Amino acid sequence: MARSVLEAEHSQAAPCPPSVIATGYYRAFRDYARERTCRPLLLQGDAMMVLKELPADSIDCAMTSPPYWGKREYENGGIGLEADYRDYVRDLATIFGEVKRVLKTEGSFWLNIGDTYENKGLVGIPWRLAFELTDTQGWILRNSVIWNKVKSGMDNTKDRLGNVHENIFHFVKQAKGYYYNADAIRSKPREAKVVNGAVVSATGVSGVRYKRQIELSTDLSEAEKREAFRGLDMMLADVGAGKISDFRMIIRAQQRATHSDSEKLSGRAKELRDKGFYFLRYHPNGSKPSDVWDIIPEDTQGRESHFAPYPVDLCCIPILAACPEGGIVLDPFCGTGTTLFAARNLNRKSVGIDISGQYLAHTQERCASLL
Ligand SMILES: C[S@@+](CC[C@H](N)C(=O)[O-])C[C@H]1O[C@@H](n2cnc3c(N)ncnc32)[C@H](O)[C@@H]1O
Repeated sequence: MARSVLEAEHSQAAPCPPSVIATGYYRAFRDYARERTCRPLLLQGDAMMVLKELPADSIDCAMTSPPYWGKREYENGGIGLEADYRDYVRDLATIFGEVKRVLKTEGSFWLNIGDTYENKGLVGIPWRLAFELTDTQGWILRNSVIWNKVKSGMDNTKDRLGNVHENIFHFVKQAKGYYYNADAIRSKPREAKVVNGAVVSATGVSGVRYKRQIELSTDLSEAEKREAFRGLDMMLADVGAGKISDFRMIIRAQQRATHSDSEKLSGRAKELRDKGFYFLRYHPNGSKPSDVWDIIPEDTQGRESHFAPYPVDLCCIPILAACPEGGIVLDPFCGTGTTLFAARNLNRKSVGIDISGQYLAHTQERCASLL
């Protein structure tokens, strides 16, 4: 294949479409890291070869989706063509070992990976790879997100369910002290309001129902009732003052304990036994996203030239939570540059590696529209 490579004028800071660098990766990266611009740096080559040239401890966050095993042939071959899935897992793990080296100690690695059938059996590729990374490379797995694609693609099978999910794993290098900005990804809380002079939380909690339950309780002592009323008034005052966005009250013999009724297992159950009530407080900045994401795959990036771009939305939580503003995001299999596009939109720098000049040209075009 003819290489669509523009040798770099990469050190200049003035905005210009991202160039594709095919040699001298170290120098290109070093110059790029000093630049103020958020235009992506595009490195063409085999991911392993390119990563080996990049300096250790230099990337804030990596996010990628490698080629599926045995499903599709990308231009220039590359990962995914191995005859045995064990070789595929091993090859990917070797590359991710290099990702670990270039990642800062407080960095994060988000890995989107799909599964494959072989002889009618689901191989279990995502978890095989996840265990390889945790067990042999010491990565710490913080989340396994289910990406629910909501609708499945073409599926003519008549003897199994349609596949609509893929995994997104969140790995870190150290158990504590990794960068994570939970406030950046919280959904905006709905606000409390005042109705007839009384504070009513976003979900309609005014305290009236809880007060009646406490009053009528035959399970609480008089002293416990007094404490419960006092606690409830304080909670309503906190809602009014915006210290919490909402709350739920669990009262003995009225509501079930939220975790487990077994006092051996649950501290909450003990609190219920000893005090007669407890509260669940909702964070004033809103709630965190869960580990199931409903995101419909986009089809805007030219499927005639590339088969598996992931949606920009998939990259937003990982980048906002795990890369500080101005930090560098890496995608070692960047394809059409979705990760880089998202990073650019969110004011982060980004480095994309791909073996294919054609896909990088696509990335160039896509990211140029943002400059
Ligand atoms: C699933 S696609 C990535 C899609 C990307 N997330 C996007 O939104 O466009 C995987 C990419 O890995 C690239 N690739 C395959 N083997 C590679 C290798 N050894 N080194 C670098 N890139 C490789 C392919 O060219 C392809 O673009």
